[in-house]
Amino acid sequence: MTAKDKKVYVGMSADIIHPGHLNILKTARDLGDVIVGLLTDEAIASYKRVPFMTYDQRKDIIENIKGVIKVVPQTTLDYVANLEMIRPDYVVHGDDWREGVQQKTRSRVIEALLKWNGELIEVPYTDGVSSTALQAAIKEVGTTPGIRLKSLRRMLKVKPLLRFLDIHNALSGLIVENAAIQTATLRREFDGMWASSLTDATAKGKPDIEAVDVSARITTLNEVLEVTTKPIIYDGDTGGQTEHFVFTVKTLERLGVSAVIIEDKAGLKRNSLFGSDVAHTQESIEKFSNKISEGKRAQATQDFMIIARIESLILGKGLDDAFARAKAFLDAGADGIMIHSAEKDPREIFAFCTLYNQLENRKPLVAVPSSYNHVTEEELEANGINVVIYANHMLRSAYPAMLNTARSILEHHRSAECDPNMMTIKEILELIPGSR
Ligand code: SPV
Ligand code: MG
Repeated sequence: MTAKDKKVYVGMSADIIHPGHLNILKTARDLGDVIVGLLTDEAIASYKRVPFMTYDQRKDIIENIKGVIKVVPQTTLDYVANLEMIRPDYVVHGDDWREGVQQKTRSRVIEALLKWNGELIEVPYTDGVSSTALQAAIKEVGTTPGIRLKSLRRMLKVKPLLRFLDIHNALSGLIVENAAIQTATLRREFDGMWASSLTDATAKGKPDIEAVDVSARITTLNEVLEVTTKPIIYDGDTGGQTEHFVFTVKTLERLGVSAVIIEDKAGLKRNSLFGSDVAHTQESIEKFSNKISEGKRAQATQDFMIIARIESLILGKGLDDAFARAKAFLDAGADGIMIHSAEKDPREIFAFCTLYNQLENRKPLVAVPSSYNHVTEEELEANGINVVIYANHMLRSAYPAMLNTARSILEHHRSAECDPNMMTIKEILELIPGSR
């Protein structure tokens, strides 16, 4: 048998191609015909961020590299299903997977290859190239409004549940952009930002009653857009007058915001989390549906999303009213539904999910578990929720920290006592790159 009769399998994400990938592919092509198992967007998103390039873009690049005769989708991080189908003579991989999160995947590859006497060839890790450093460099370059705008729809396609957190200034945006934890198997971070009316208004010392007008809200957004790349969902309150809402849609779309959520309230808006403690008025189905369809008509692209927020559960109008509204708002063109509740018990929300999930024209479902906060993301996902918004947690945690510092200085006539609870001066000076 010549080398050319041999089948060689290489699994890769190939999002940012660098010399390390080419080293592996060169080794592979010397051994035979190279079949690349290209991780799908879903497979990549299951353990780290959604790739910069789509599956089709990545496939196009890999197919055109010398020696690659075929690209097949690898739909899981695990290789075994593809290996059993292809039964390659060799699998080629970088030797860096002997340690760390991929160890188990590696053992399963070796075990599978044994069945047909296949062999694992490991290529020494290429020094001087780091995907992490390349990714950081790409992030530093930033993004464009068009790419950011589309990114929410892309994420919704490949991830079952997206996680959003509130922003009220650039610094909170940077936290949502960069905060991450690494577990044994995956990197977990926030998928995007919630431009909350409550936290933006509160940070400006104003009540959450639409007194902070759209221009002021956009000023905050601009600050955040300057220093972040992740998708933004804008809290549009009631959307205001329909004749005004169409302009808000155009502005948000032009800036690269991915979605606006408007709530079906009328008159002076009060924050929903007051529940029945304050009077709220719900908008009629007809008028709100009209606002949605006029908003949809105002869009310049297909990418922007208008999500309808239903307040029936907040107002004690019950499940049937909420469901009737969901159907009407989807028919009016809404790209998704947000169902809200101020109850600690998620029963009503989950009952809504059961009804909603049966709809034929079902679109993404958003939940804001501020009051039913013991419910985990896993439970929300199991009930069909597609986006979870932690709506006010950045501001609620920042304010007590600042208040405690102010009180401590008043109490002790100096700052030494509160010092251990703060960042050091060096740390704050170096927090933002480029400060030196
Ligand atoms: C906000 O964050 O401003 C919201 C969500 O609209 S809630 O405060 O729960 O109404
Ligand atoms: Mg709000």
